[in-house]
Amino acid sequence: MEPRHFLTLGDLSRTELDAVIARAIALKQTHREGREQPSMTGKVLGMIFEKSSTRTRVSFEAGMAQMGGSAIFLSPQDTQLGRGEPVEDTARVLSRMVDIIMVRTYAHAKLEAFARHSRVPVINALTDALHPCQVLADIQTFVEQRGSLSGRTVAWMGDGNNMCQSYIEAAGLFDFELRIACPAGYEPDPARVKAQGARVRLGHDPVAAVAGADLIVTDVFTSMGQEAEQQERAARFAGFQVNHQLLAGAAPDALFMHCLPAHRGEEVSAALIEDPRHSIVWEEAENRLHSQKALMQFLLGHY
Ligand code: CP
Ligand code: NVA
Repeated sequence: MEPRHFLTLGDLSRTELDAVIARAIALKQTHREGREQPSMTGKVLGMIFEKSSTRTRVSFEAGMAQMGGSAIFLSPQDTQLGRGEPVEDTARVLSRMVDIIMVRTYAHAKLEAFARHSRVPVINALTDALHPCQVLADIQTFVEQRGSLSGRTVAWMGDGNNMCQSYIEAAGLFDFELRIACPAGYEPDPARVKAQGARVRLGHDPVAAVAGADLIVTDVFTSMGQEAEQQERAARFAGFQVNHQLLAGAAPDALFMHCLPAHRGEEVSAALIEDPRHSIVWEEAENRLHSQKALMQFLLGHY
């Protein structure tokens, strides 16, 4: 049987995604109450990281340990991947040894090639194109705080990057309106925007995007791999900061999310990210743990 992968949110149906989120919320509860039962005894997760990580590494590794399994951290510096062994060969070998694999890399096509050659489920732990694990955790977080996203308005502020593109996909799957405000020249892939029709509105005006929004989301202006553009981006993104002044035009109970790491004073003000009336970034970060545990259980056929 072909393994199920999670390279993009749309690899799961809406019904399956809802089941993963419900399972994540339940796992969070049992974990907090100290009642979690081992569900991954003897299972091994391989973790390939070609870019840095704090949350993704710790949430996957801790999550696997909490379920009674284990995880192996693999970086290009310490594996033959960094010395040119083809990704296809690496996938074929690793997937004969471990039960599930997560990959953080640059080109999305590399992840897809890996998955095509893997016998076991492969999870996208961030590519240049998409970051579905983070958006899964974000959806869980919104559902916990406010209920379904269906019919809600989400504003994306800043770069049309991997996070933005996973939000674009989420808008269709979870039936919300996404308003994107980014500087000219930093838009997401137009084909992805077009595919969602009227649900996704692309513009360049932060104030218009947040008007009445239920959730405001941003991310760094310079993603991993774009460090050489940092100065230019800082100048081009001026005016796209999420702060209390901008939030004044949103719904009164609007929530703020950021996948982290955050740069206070750049994409978000220090005051807003620390304001518990709106900012739920710590809960959002914690939910990486619970939603990925639920995801791994799903991909390994537990429900
Ligand atoms: N949000 C996120 O993926 O964080 P890390 O880069 O620390 O894993
Ligand atoms: N857009 C950011 C997300 C980091 C979690 C990056 O790709 O660096």
